[in-house]
Amino acid sequence: VKKIIITIDGYSSCGKSTLARQLAAQLNYLYIDSGAMYRAITLYFIQHRVEWNDHVQVKTALDSIHLEFVHNQISGYSDMFLNDENVEQLIREMLVAEKVSEVAAIRAVREFAVAQQQKMGAQKGIVMDGRDIGTVVFPHAELKIFMTADPAIRVERRFKELYAKNPNITLHEVKENLELRDYIDANREVSPLRRAEDAIILDNSQLNMQEQLDLVMQWVEDAI
Ligand code: C5P
Repeated sequence: VKKIIITIDGYSSCGKSTLARQLAAQLNYLYIDSGAMYRAITLYFIQHRVEWNDHVQVKTALDSIHLEFVHNQISGYSDMFLNDENVEQLIREMLVAEKVSEVAAIRAVREFAVAQQQKMGAQKGIVMDGRDIGTVVFPHAELKIFMTADPAIRVERRFKELYAKNPNITLHEVKENLELRDYIDANREVSPLRRAEDAIILDNSQLNMQEQLDLVMQWVEDAI
């Protein structure tokens, strides 16, 4: 069977990772969450007080960052490891979410992450989600999806996810963070978030998960 590369890009909290995981399970493909890499780099910068407007500090920091995805037997998913430490929980926290878009806008940071992402896709049979996967990381991917969803629905979804872990979080805080990240991601100079010309738009505001998966599996069959 021919193996392909599937890219999923879009704004924050459109359900990209949920779809990517389902596709990877269905097709027996590797799933890579590129956002986890930017989150882990951001965590390192925060922990080590890296001044990210300083090119030299950024370069030195990147030289001491080793990222790895490690399969978790219990969840069945991959956990992000930063220098051999499991940071999967930490990178999902608001502290990181508040800064990640600033860090992800830095050219050297993107070059560092993109080079590793491209290596992971060398064997094909991969689903990767993010913001620039169809435009920059895999411009020749066989299937590109650009996801959107009603902003209110996205805020609600992310709020539920974060509230389950931290009941102190407010809807307002989550809304502000999503809006700010989307704005920075779409307006940065280096590989801004945008739809690749050949990406299929998937608006899942009105779709349940099964409907969405059935629809996309049809696109996969067409692309193979
Ligand atoms: O996907 P997730 O919301 O975890 O991504 C966190 C942040 O990482 C995004 O808001 C964006 O700033 C950055 N990112 C990116 N390029 C990617 C994936 C994520 O700039 N391919």
